[in-house]
Amino acid sequence: MKGVVLCGGTGSRLDPLTRVTNKHLLPIYDRPMVFYPIQTLVDAGIDDIMLVTGGNNAGDFVPLLGNGADFGLKHINYTYQKGAGGIADALRLCRHFVGRDRVAVILGDNVFSPGVAEHVRGFSGMADGAVVFLKGVDDPARFGVAEVAGGRVVGIEEKPAHPKSNLAVTGLYLYDHTVFDLIATLKPSGRGELEITDVNNGYLRRGSLRHCLLPDGIQWTDAGTFESLHRANLLAAEFRGKGRP
Ligand code: G1P
Repeated sequence: MKGVVLCGGTGSRLDPLTRVTNKHLLPIYDRPMVFYPIQTLVDAGIDDIMLVTGGNNAGDFVPLLGNGADFGLKHINYTYQKGAGGIADALRLCRHFVGRDRVAVILGDNVFSPGVAEHVRGFSGMADGAVVFLKGVDDPARFGVAEVAGGRVVGIEEKPAHPKSNLAVTGLYLYDHTVFDLIATLKPSGRGELEITDVNNGYLRRGSLRHCLLPDGIQWTDAGTFESLHRANLLAAEFRGKGRP
């Protein structure tokens, strides 16, 4: 399985922290934000990784990450997203990298406690379709929200005013290679972006979307707002302080 880490966007919700640098280069506890999602993929056994970035500071990722020695990697692939076209637009750039393989996609501002890797590994035999990882949260309206009935996801809404559940769709997704054909059919949303929620609902309509509800022992947060960035620092301090290498 290939891995893609998405580090584009403007990070406008963190202005002025993001005025002169890319959000994913900001510190979370003792390391830059982007280290966490890369480590999550590596822990899940994925060692062929593409990083998608954009904006004026894209070049800063190269001296920071180099060829991935901090993660025991031999090589990292990089590509550049022009503009802020959304998560699905960024993933679109990875078509040739993924080829006929499957791909684990993770958002560059998502921090998971290390145990999530075994849940990703649980799908290593997946032949086709997609998997979303869900987590119960107190503020679902900030996220993609999944409605689950009869053990299946029956709908996902992006940032709903009236969430149908407290189950956030985290920024970690597994797809087969047909994801790129699906992205090609998408139209920009109200915020002018190709939405990852539309991708997931596409798999849902085909009957090939699975989900994994992350248990209480697995912590997750994004880090795209001041409050969640603060939460990410506390979470990382907690699990890094517990002897993580
Ligand atoms: C994005 C996705 C959303 C998902 C979230 C996870 O939101 O659009 O569905 O729940 O990431 O972090 P954004 O950070 O772009 O607002």
